[in-house]
Amino acid sequence: MSETAIPAAHADPASPPPGDAAATAWRVACAVADIPAQGARVVAVAGRPEIAVFRTLDDRVFALVDRCPHKGGPLSAGVVHGHAVTCPLHNWAIGLADGRAREPDEGCARTVPARVEGGMVWLAVETG
Ligand code: FES
Repeated sequence: MSETAIPAAHADPASPPPGDAAATAWRVACAVADIPAQGARVVAVAGRPEIAVFRTLDDRVFALVDRCPHKGGPLSAGVVHGHAVTCPLHNWAIGLADGRAREPDEGCARTVPARVEGGMVWLAVETG
C-alpha cells in the first residue's frame, strides 16, 4: 500500500460529481499506475477519513473509506480478489463496488465515487 494526498489545485469544476455537487468535488488522487495490481493506495483528504483506492486484476479502480465495517480495520492492507477485498484483521470480505460485507457478515463500508481518465484516478471527495 502507498499513500498520497490530494492537492486542492487539481479540482475539476467542469464536471460535477454524482450526488450532492455542492458538498463534493472531483479531485485527482493518483495515477492508475501508482496502484499495484490487486492492491491499494491510501489517499489522504484534509479533515476527512483516509480513502483506499483499489485496483483489481482486470484494471478496474474502486474507492472506499479505509475503514472496515466490522471493527475499523484498514481495508487498504487487505487482499484484493476479484472485485472484493478481504480485511486483514478478521477476514471479512467487502465488495469494492458497493462496500457491502459478503454474507454471512453484515455491514457496509462507505464507497467513494471514482473514475479514470487519461490514466489518472479521480475521486469525488467531500468539500463541505
Ligand atoms: S475489522 Fe475488518 S474484519 Fe474485523
